[in-house]
Amino acid sequence: MPVLYDRLLKLKEMFNSKFGSTPKFYVRAPGRVNIIGEHIDYCGYSVLPMAVEQDMLIAVEPVKTHTLQLANTNPLYPDFSTSANNIHIDKTKPLWHNYFLCGFKGIQEHFGLSKLTGMNCLVDGNIPPGSGLSSSSALVCCAGLVTLTVLGMSLSKVELAEICAKSERYIGTEGGGMDQSISFLAEEGTAKLIEFSPLRATDVRLPSGAVFVIANSCVEANKAASSHFNVRVMECRLAAKVLAKHKGLQWDKVLRLEEVQTKLGVSLQEMLLVTEDALHAEPYSREEICKYLGISLEELRTQILTPNTQDELTFKLYQRAKHVYSEAARVLQFKQVCEEAPHNAIQLLGELMNQSHRSCRDMYECSCPELDQLVDICRKFGAKGSRLTGAGWGGCTVSLVPADMLSSFLTNVYEAYYRRNSRSPALEKHSLFATKPGGGALVFLEA
Ligand code: GLA
Repeated sequence: MPVLYDRLLKLKEMFNSKFGSTPKFYVRAPGRVNIIGEHIDYCGYSVLPMAVEQDMLIAVEPVKTHTLQLANTNPLYPDFSTSANNIHIDKTKPLWHNYFLCGFKGIQEHFGLSKLTGMNCLVDGNIPPGSGLSSSSALVCCAGLVTLTVLGMSLSKVELAEICAKSERYIGTEGGGMDQSISFLAEEGTAKLIEFSPLRATDVRLPSGAVFVIANSCVEANKAASSHFNVRVMECRLAAKVLAKHKGLQWDKVLRLEEVQTKLGVSLQEMLLVTEDALHAEPYSREEICKYLGISLEELRTQILTPNTQDELTFKLYQRAKHVYSEAARVLQFKQVCEEAPHNAIQLLGELMNQSHRSCRDMYECSCPELDQLVDICRKFGAKGSRLTGAGWGGCTVSLVPADMLSSFLTNVYEAYYRRNSRSPALEKHSLFATKPGGGALVFLEA
């Protein structure tokens, strides 16, 4: 890995000029691209991501004091220092160091430690922020593994992923566990089907003869800076409760759409019919939801909704449930096509990706005009399938492109989306690239 080696050497030098000492070890944790299965992990359903080569890399030196000193090679991210025994994560501003603190605090709490040793850390990330490639979770995971290593403790990758998924919620977003799971469980050369409760990852061999290409819309989307993301999580939660009540189940403990399916013991196709039957397409007012569930507005606000969604007046339940159940079915179909590898596999997988994008755009409303335009351009120049990836509302698309068309595809998409529209030159060099499944988080002792 010559590129990584060069980065490690540079990081060592910068660490030395910043802290006047040599790092004792390094940790890397990758970002990811989600191939299919969007906005369904927090509903309990399986997703199909792979790690990308881009990652967070941290050089670390444990120190005797109880001070945690963080610096970043990117001058946009200011230095930060705090007492290791008094971690405060400010939910009102998604500042970079807070993601580190989430991983740090997650491990600290898991072991019930009150006094932690301090450390000096220099962070170097090359995942474009706000691009839907999970730069924030990579930082949380990297910080979690840094903390574990400093403590000299050990945990399985599954435990680490679960701790980091939970502790990233200190930032205020109610994400699922996909990003942290793939960052730890990824293996070079294979995508993974990630299943939850219990968390596990299974290899999914992607078809030969095609490559996945990531293209950045250059619209930056920070899911912690707005309430869009949590509103969707809450709409799914409310849809699950209303569906459960409709079916005569005990609805008050139900949080996820998958629980309704499991309790009813029916297929995803049947859940789509139940959704048609139970929910209406007009947005639900909060009064209607309260009346249906027999709860007060105050109970809805404080016991079901998150702080940043308490003032929402309406919720779309039908559209969100339709997306989730149909997307969950597409993930399983995608995996099946990969396993059976029929002669038209690339065509079939591409079609599933296209359906996923349509559902994200029309039912989940997590796309934006630039992503829709980029997806159209990618399909026009040869992608068999193209869709937004990650949370959406900006960020990247992922496209399935026949290998023999890759070079013309890259040239044409570059011309049509980036050059013709003079898209942000700062992001351009990381804006359009083919990617292969990369490996998961690692600790290195020497640069
Ligand atoms: C973010 C979250 C994930 C997942 C995706 C959407 O990346 O962190 O858990 O919900 O959005 O699929």
